[in-house]
Amino acid sequence: MPIGYHAGRAIELTPSILSANFANLGADVQAADEVGCSWIQVDVMDGHFVPNLTFGPPVIQAIRPFFKGTLDVHLMVSNPDALLEAYAKAGANHITVHQEASVHLHRTIQRIHELGCTAGVALNPATPVSSLDDIIEDLDLVLIMSVNPGFGGQSFIERSLAKIAAVRSLLDQRHHEAVIQVDGGVKPSNIASVVQAGATNLIAGSAFYSSTITPHQAWDAFVAALA
Ligand code: DX5
Repeated sequence: MPIGYHAGRAIELTPSILSANFANLGADVQAADEVGCSWIQVDVMDGHFVPNLTFGPPVIQAIRPFFKGTLDVHLMVSNPDALLEAYAKAGANHITVHQEASVHLHRTIQRIHELGCTAGVALNPATPVSSLDDIIEDLDLVLIMSVNPGFGGQSFIERSLAKIAAVRSLLDQRHHEAVIQVDGGVKPSNIASVVQAGATNLIAGSAFYSSTITPHQAWDAFVAALA
């Protein structure tokens, strides 16, 4: 369920399992389901596109039974086309690829849809929103990276707010509805400005899975920050 509403749109909180307890992953995924999250994100990293290595399709298969909502796979990999089918078959509902890693992005988005998933494109901090001009009407989601991808616990890059607003403006100009997702350094302390800029789906890693608060307390903090 949403953590709130802004401009008539539901705002969703999407935990990133990169900050979860990998020794107890099923329980951490189930906790997100139980507190009310409609989405959960799996950060797939290949150690080449980003300097970290994470989850293969078997992990998606393993956590699938513990989450009823949208299982969002964020492919931070150099060759996303080679992996689309495996992650879709493992249980992904949504797949996001990086603009910077896609040679034939229009075809990649078509393929994600053919596999029965919704499709998103992620932009790294230095990649302009204008790079979406000729693909945005084919997208179900745009992901604005507000950190340089690879690790959780980084600080939010402030100029991401202008990029979020630029995506909102482009969608409005084209009369196209898509999720605007923001990922990296998202905390209860900054989501009011992130949502004000136009975001509708907030990725939280270290602000959701933390040794100092429970997922329920994290959920309540995000809800309170939008109230
Ligand atoms: C970073 C990942 C993010 C990360 C977010 O490369 O894509 O999803 O897990 O973690 P926080 O919310 O701690 O910045």
